[in-house]
Amino acid sequence: MTILVTGAAGFIGSNFVLDWFKQYSEDVVSLDLLTYAGNRENLSALESNPKHHFVWGNISDSKLVDALLKKYHIRAIIHFAAESHVDRSILSPDDFVQTNILGTYRLLESARLYWQNLNQTLKETFRFIHVSTDEVYGSLSASESAFTEKHRYEPRSPYSSSKAASDLMAHAWFCTYGLPVITTNCSNNYGPYQFPEKLIPLCILNALKGKSLPIYGDGKQIRDWLYVKDHCGAIFKILNNGRIGETYNIGGMNEKTNLEVVQSICDILDQFKPKVDGKSYFDQVTFIKDRPGHDKRYAIDAKKIQSELNWKAQEPFEAGLRKTVLWYLDNQDWVDHIFTGEYQQWIKKQYL
Ligand code: NAD
Ligand code: TYD
Repeated sequence: MTILVTGAAGFIGSNFVLDWFKQYSEDVVSLDLLTYAGNRENLSALESNPKHHFVWGNISDSKLVDALLKKYHIRAIIHFAAESHVDRSILSPDDFVQTNILGTYRLLESARLYWQNLNQTLKETFRFIHVSTDEVYGSLSASESAFTEKHRYEPRSPYSSSKAASDLMAHAWFCTYGLPVITTNCSNNYGPYQFPEKLIPLCILNALKGKSLPIYGDGKQIRDWLYVKDHCGAIFKILNNGRIGETYNIGGMNEKTNLEVVQSICDILDQFKPKVDGKSYFDQVTFIKDRPGHDKRYAIDAKKIQSELNWKAQEPFEAGLRKTVLWYLDNQDWVDHIFTGEYQQWIKKQYL
C-alpha cells in the first residue's frame, strides 16, 4: 500500500518524505501544486527511487485526488499542503481561504468517498492526518500556561483563522462520517529546506548578503521552536499509534524571543563565516514596524503526546540551529535557484 503526502515539496512535507524513506519501504505519493513555496528540488534525492511518485497538482482537484487514492490504494493521507506564511495572509488572504479551507474541505470529501468504499479492515486502518499549527489557539501572555489540546480556539490572523476552520472541519468529518482523522497542532518549525520568507532562513540569508535583519516591533515576541525532524518523528508516531478523533499538540519546550533567535543565528555565523571587517552580523539588526495583530507568545504543552505515544523533542535548540545555519551555508545552489528565479523557470520547462 501507499501513503499520500500533500504539500510534499514544501518545507515540512519534504523533510517528512525524505525521513520516511530512511525508515520505511512503503511507497509515497507526493502531491504538490508547486506554489512559490513548493520546490521540486527538495525531493531531488528521491528522483530515481521507484517507490516515490511525485504528482504536480492541487488538493482541490477532486478528480485528480480521487484517481490517485484509487490508483495507489492509499492507506493514509498526511495533509501538509497549505498557504503557511502569516505576512502573506495579511496582504492577501484569498489564497489562504482557497487552499486551507476549501482545499482541505475538498480533500476531506475525496478521502471520505474513497474510505467509505473500502472493505472493513482497510476502513479501520485508514488514517487522515491533518497537520495544523499552534497559532489556532491565539496569543498567550507571558504568565499564561502553555497551550493544551483543550485550549479554546482563538485565531487572530487570516492564516491561523483559515487553519482553525480546517481543523474544525477535519474533526467534524470524524464526528459525522467516522473518517479516521487525527489532528496535530505544532509550534514553529525550523531546519533545512525552509523557504526564506520565515524568520530563521530569512535572517541567515539576509545576514550573509549584508542586508538588514528585520525585527518586527521590539523583537520580544516568543515562539516555541521545534526542529523539523522532531516534528516528522512525532507524525510517524501519530500515524502508527495515535487515537482517531484526537488532537495532539507538538512542541519543542523551547521558548525564545525573536531577538534571542536572531542573536543565536548571528553567533553561529560569526563563528563559521566571520565577516571580513571583524564585526558581528548582529549589527545588521534593524527594528521595523510591527506586524498587524502580531501574536505575542506561543507555547505548547506536549504532555499528551509524550505520555500516550512516548514522543519528546530530541534536538536541543542550539544544536538544531547550528545544523540549520550550516545547511544553508552548504546548499548555496538551492539558495541561488530560489533567488535567481531559475527554479521558477525550471517549473515552466518541466511542467507547463
Ligand atoms: P510551506 O509553505 O513550506 O509548504 C506548503 C506546501 O504546500 C508547498 O509545497 C506548496 O506548493 C503546497 N501547496 C500549497 N497549496 C497547495 C494546493 N492547493 N495543493 C497542493 N499543494 C499545495 O509550509 P510548511 O512550513 O511546510 O507547512 C506545512 C504544514 O504544516 C502547513 O499545513 C502548516 O500550516 C503546518 N505548520 C507549519 C509550521 C511551520 O513552522 N512551518 C508549524 C506548524 C504547522
Ligand atoms: P515567522 O517565521 O513568520 O513565523 P510565525 O509568524 O508563523 O510565528 O515569524 C516568527 C516570528 O518572527 C514572529 O514573531 C514574527 C517575527 N518576524 C520578524 O520579526 N521579522 C521578520 O522579518 C519575520 C519574517 C518574522
